Amino acid sequence: MTEAIHKRKSEHISITLNEDVTGTNISTGLERVAFIHNALPEVDFESIQLNSTFVDTVCRTPFLISSMTGGAAFAETINRNLAIAAEQQGWVLALGSMRALIESEQHRESFQVRKYAPNIPIIANLGAVQLNYGFGIDECRRIIEMSEADALVLHLNSIQEVIQPNGNTNFKSLLQKIEILCKSLSIPVGVKEVGWGIDGETAKKLCEVGVQFIDVAGAGGTSWSQVEKFRTVDPIKRKAAETFSGWGIPTADSILGVRKHIGEARTVIGSGGMYTGLDAAKAIALGADLVGFGKSILQEATQTVEDVLKVMQTIELELKMAMFGIGVSSVDGLQQTDRIRYK
Ligand SMILES: Cc1cc2nc3c(=O)[nH]c(=O)nc-3n(C[C@H](O)[C@H](O)[C@H](O)COP(=O)(O)O)c2cc1C
Repeated sequence: MTEAIHKRKSEHISITLNEDVTGTNISTGLERVAFIHNALPEVDFESIQLNSTFVDTVCRTPFLISSMTGGAAFAETINRNLAIAAEQQGWVLALGSMRALIESEQHRESFQVRKYAPNIPIIANLGAVQLNYGFGIDECRRIIEMSEADALVLHLNSIQEVIQPNGNTNFKSLLQKIEILCKSLSIPVGVKEVGWGIDGETAKKLCEVGVQFIDVAGAGGTSWSQVEKFRTVDPIKRKAAETFSGWGIPTADSILGVRKHIGEARTVIGSGGMYTGLDAAKAIALGADLVGFGKSILQEATQTVEDVLKVMQTIELELKMAMFGIGVSSVDGLQQTDRIRYK
């Protein structure tokens, strides 16, 4: 079973890098968002501040590396490059699913990146559905301890589990188990999707049981039915996966809905199909506190720290340019701007 997980993780990386895994006939919705340029910004570009808050921690930037990997041979290089770069730039780092860590010691190192990133928030990750398949509070405590994480995010990936060979598809009674977990762990628990978005009502229910942050991981970027389509050898599942390549809540709609329903008290992470700092500016203006990047930073993560840094620095410059362009000097100011049109 564990070997199967390691193989799956390696295939996810190579398929994401080499095949077209973006959802079809769907977009993030960010192309419907436009800023109204301010020719007289009355702001000194050099004074623009990017700091934001993840739960209770002030971060130097409003950026996060979305949960991607760990548990596969190549994942160690990827996570090391991401961790070193994230520490340098002050990005939050989310690790990939740590289920394999409980089942075997192999590739444990790939999740142990605290030594490269002593100061930034690190987020541990587990599929919420695992709470119905033998994982409980003790297993969560172990993955948090082994990765020295500051928070735990549970991912919701119902559609992927149907297509994935030997997927875990019993999603019953998870809200109640998430509530118990939130009450038992001493660190914040968040919930994310993997590319189909979270609606406002669901986010509200999750926050009511103690979830501290919601990462929308909306549609328009990586589609996990597309990824699994390339892995499955079952022609029936392959056909069904194709049918679902346009499924999900566009990222922009998901951010708007979640923020509207959960109010200001909880952290909202806008992610799913983010490529540029201008995408990030739009997500923040729609209500996100932080913005997550997944596939768009993966190729560089397989290369060098310097390559990752270049992507991060470009994104930061683009965000600052968007803020300058509308005349705001803080992430707070960007969240409150009325210089935005949503078509
Ligand atoms: C190679 C790869 C592996 C991923 N593995 C995980 C994972 O283990 N756990 C998880 O919650 N999300 C995982 N994701 C999903 C991402 O965190 C993200 O939500 C999704 O890819 C949408 O963002 P994107 O369009 O920026 O890629 C993975 C994404 C990629 C590209």
